[in-house]
Amino acid sequence: MKLWGGRFAKPTAKDFEAFSSSIDVDAKLWAVDLKTSIAHARMLSQQGIIGKEDGEKIIQGLHQIHEEISNQKWTFDPKAEDIHGEIEKRLFELIGPAAKKVHTARSRNDQVATDTRLYLSEAIRDLLQDLRSVQAEILKQAKDHTTTILPGMTHLQHAQPVSLAHHLMAYYWMFQRDSKRLQESLPRILSLPLGSAALAGTGFPIDRQMTAKEIGFQKVSENSLDAVSDRDFVIEFLSDASMIMMHLSRLCEELILWSTPEFAFVELGDEVTTGSSIMPQKKNPDVAELIRGRVGRVYGALMGALTMMKALPLSYNRDMQEDKIHLFEGLETVQSCLQMMKLTLETCQWNKEKMMKSLKADFSNATDLADDLVLKGLSFREAHEIVGQVVQACVQAKKGLEDLTLPELQKFHSLFDLESLKKMNHQQVMSLRLSEGGTAPSQVERQIQMAEKNH
Ligand code: ARG
Repeated sequence: MKLWGGRFAKPTAKDFEAFSSSIDVDAKLWAVDLKTSIAHARMLSQQGIIGKEDGEKIIQGLHQIHEEISNQKWTFDPKAEDIHGEIEKRLFELIGPAAKKVHTARSRNDQVATDTRLYLSEAIRDLLQDLRSVQAEILKQAKDHTTTILPGMTHLQHAQPVSLAHHLMAYYWMFQRDSKRLQESLPRILSLPLGSAALAGTGFPIDRQMTAKEIGFQKVSENSLDAVSDRDFVIEFLSDASMIMMHLSRLCEELILWSTPEFAFVELGDEVTTGSSIMPQKKNPDVAELIRGRVGRVYGALMGALTMMKALPLSYNRDMQEDKIHLFEGLETVQSCLQMMKLTLETCQWNKEKMMKSLKADFSNATDLADDLVLKGLSFREAHEIVGQVVQACVQAKKGLEDLTLPELQKFHSLFDLESLKKMNHQQVMSLRLSEGGTAPSQVERQIQMAEKNH
């Protein structure tokens, strides 16, 4: 039984039926499909487009289907065309001819667009929770490590010491922007296509505002052609999801690097690492590698959706059925990766001693030696040149700036004094970066407080 069989003399080819079916993907929409259909039926009945009694029957039937699916008392035919047709078929089995009225003033084109928007808005609310959990874990650990220091890097070379808290909080703010982006997308997603019917609207006296209110949409779409064929919201979401994955991949990359014996700044928990079938000593950071690897899925989904929409004429085209494959791939990947990142952070152990050790003779205090000369009256360029020479000499002598004696230092400039040497302590170097947003513990504590206020 097809929703559109009347026009056709010959049956659809079996292979084509399988080729065009989307139920394996869109079955996920069942709950939102029921919700939007209930709202639509209520509106039709309220407007007198269908009789009150039929309206009641339809709504009851849809509730019953909800109950049946929730309790696995009824399952869809995996060969059916899509979930929308399957639900309508079940409604007919349950309530008889009244079921044939639910599709009045509606098309699958506005129905599927509405369902997808509703599904995504609900999924985003869950995703925001996942982001918040990762951020909460970062905050918790940052609080314990405002004085734990490690080399801050540029070009992956030791640059200036920073605190572990400062480093972790950098990711907090990335995820904060991700979260904002998703929140800001919600009003755009919650624009109701339903009532646009196939493409041109309908002659029935529908009340779209009522439907929007019933389902919890913030507004109704302005243009029916646009409404049934707009998939910007899918692409926008996949772009936001790509950004989250990019941020996760940077954190993963650092965890992978930092868990090597060369760094050993961190040890990942047994819960999220694996061994080798041949090398008994191995403990591999698979969780971080898998998250990093799965970035490809989400970027791929974004590219897939963009390409699918390119140059499509107005309005609905069947190409758009593919949107959900990309959307769900992106959604589920980013969701599980965030959950795994939370577990990874919860179970990791930071190695403060290793971080501290790596700062020895690393010259990440060189800027401070130059700043010292500037405070004593030299221009920064002159100071930079002189300290460059000090560093060069130290590299040759295989020692750090902090290992120099005063006479050794004064060979490079007479303005160097004991104060200059004292400033070479890495902990102090870090503590003096007091500018707003800097790595000094007091600034990082302020940062943490700001974060907690928004959290
Ligand atoms: N399964 C379809 C989709 O997801 C539903 C809309 C079909 N509309 C149509 N005119 N063939 O896009």
